[in-house]
Amino acid sequence: MKKLVLVGSTGVIGVKVKELLSSEYEVITVNRTSGDYQLDMADASALENMFKEIGGFDALIATSGYGKRGSIDEHSIQDFHDGLNSKLMGQVNLVMIGRKYANPGASVALSSGILAQMPTVGGISLAMINAGIEAFNRNAALEMTDMTINVVSPSFAKETMELMGMDSSTGVPAIEFAKLYKQAIEEGKSGEVYRY
Ligand SMILES: NC(=O)c1ccc[n+]([C@@H]2O[C@H](COP(=O)([O-])OP(=O)(O)OC[C@H]3O[C@@H](n4cnc5c(N)ncnc54)[C@H](OP(=O)(O)O)[C@@H]3O)[C@@H](O)[C@H]2O)c1
Repeated sequence: MKKLVLVGSTGVIGVKVKELLSSEYEVITVNRTSGDYQLDMADASALENMFKEIGGFDALIATSGYGKRGSIDEHSIQDFHDGLNSKLMGQVNLVMIGRKYANPGASVALSSGILAQMPTVGGISLAMINAGIEAFNRNAALEMTDMTINVVSPSFAKETMELMGMDSSTGVPAIEFAKLYKQAIEEGKSGEVYRY
């Protein structure tokens, strides 16, 4: 069975990714507070130890990372650093370290988000982070010719809107995003952004 490392398996989207892929893949779950490995993906040395222990893998999906939601007035400079370090550099770390251990032909799917393209009050951190992930993806795909790398850019999950107490009528069920991660790791393309 192919081995999938899933970082963020307990989140709104990660739960659906795990559900969708666990009949086809041996899923190794990674989160900060639960799972087969418990670590923060911002911690490069913890990641190195994890990948060393896992050995070869065929797919890596990240549905993880933090970025502050809030207006510019609600942001400190540290808030920007915290998000860049978590969601952007955490996913970059996964690729930079994971690629050394990946099986030939392995595939990676990272997460960005619609705020990369859509200026929104309260989205200033995540807009930067998401755009950075998409830029990293385009360039990494050019150079990482022995594996594929893609990004999934979710819009807004229905379940997340419900958790936030919002009207969720325009939300997309998280399973629809999960299908995009599956497509991203299986389709054979590289450098793409899959959007819903
Ligand atoms: N849901 C949406 O509507 C939406 C829209 C646009 C973009 N996105 C993006 O899609 C991704 C998944 O979103 P989601 O709503 O499913 O997230 P979520 O519900 O907040 O779940 C995040 C998951 O990642 C883990 N995690 C968070 N930070 C981590 C870290 N630094 N290292 C390791 N694991 C970490 C969490 O578990 P622990 O807490 O145990 O670590 C949890 O399993 C995120 O990158 C998010 O920004 C989501």
